Amino acid sequence: MYRILVTDPLSDQGLEQLTQAPDVEVSIQTALTPSELLEAIKEMDALLVRSQTKVTKEVIMAGKQLKAIGRAGVGVDNIDIPAATNNGVVVVNAPDGNTISTAEHTFAMLISMARNIPQGYRSTVEGEWNRKAFVGVELNHKTLGIIGLGRIGTELSKRAKAFNMNVLAYDPYLTEERAQKIGVTKATLDDVIASSDFITVHTPLTKETRHLINADAFRRMKEGVRILNCARGGIIQEEALYDAIQSGKVAGAALDVFESEPPGNHPLLSLPQVTATPHLGASTHEAQENVAIDVAAEVLNILRDKPFKNA
Ligand code: NAD
Ligand code: MLT
Repeated sequence: MYRILVTDPLSDQGLEQLTQAPDVEVSIQTALTPSELLEAIKEMDALLVRSQTKVTKEVIMAGKQLKAIGRAGVGVDNIDIPAATNNGVVVVNAPDGNTISTAEHTFAMLISMARNIPQGYRSTVEGEWNRKAFVGVELNHKTLGIIGLGRIGTELSKRAKAFNMNVLAYDPYLTEERAQKIGVTKATLDDVIASSDFITVHTPLTKETRHLINADAFRRMKEGVRILNCARGGIIQEEALYDAIQSGKVAGAALDVFESEPPGNHPLLSLPQVTATPHLGASTHEAQENVAIDVAAEVLNILRDKPFKNA
């Protein structure tokens, strides 16, 4: 029997594949402390997580039988990949299943930021009727700068074009041909930074992208630019964003992710120009079902010595 530990909430449809498999024993323990995880992983053949569980080198070393780690989602930055590789543990993710949900969430944040919907809602439920304070901007003919034109960036560009936005995209792997096919303008990072009314990041968090949007980048942006991050906390330097909002350079920021989650009493959250959601990009029934089914199938393939694709 293969023993699989699940330490973050996964959709029932994904879990069913495991619980109904004749050769699998599943242990679902979604509230483990780090030391409890070190104990629980000992006899396991595979570990399934979302983003909450931190799969450190210690966890991987403690998993003496561990053969696979499955991430129900895209980002694998909560998993120590070099440690897994050194210990012969395969890491697989589910990169396709939450693309649409995250693109839709980003677009929802874009529109709600442009029209001050969260601020207007809060003011209205507090008993005010303040129409002057929440005058917004149209998306029509505005320039959206997308940094990272992968799966989510591409889906977002389609939605922005439907709203008549000009889309500039920077991605080191973007060819002129692909840009034309998608209908976006291929740009340099400098162009995106200097020419956009809205800037949104959709890259992974890597050494190259950590603090890609920093004080220097904010200095080069247009006055009144609006910023979005529905990718990973840390791509935008949070202190620099705070200063740029305080100085009036940045008119608004919509954040689904933070460098440290949950962000607690983060200074950014005290600013009326900032709207935030608690890492909800992939939180739809559809996306959670998709990623759980995909990652469960991948992990079963690894354990059963069958071909798998998203390592
Ligand atoms: P993807 O791999 O399809 O796209 C990422 C793109 O970033 C690629 O095209 C890559 O070439 C590009 N890129 C890499 N380095 C870059 C750099 N230095 N500058 C510009 N572009 C660069 O990934 P995706 O599925 O589109 O996901 C994008 C991000 O969104 C990831 O960080 C992922 O973890 C995150 N995400 C967040 C949520 C959420 O809940 N908020 C949900 C899903 C994904
Ligand atoms: C991801 O990288 O897929 C996202 O962080 C979504 C998630 O798992 O919450």
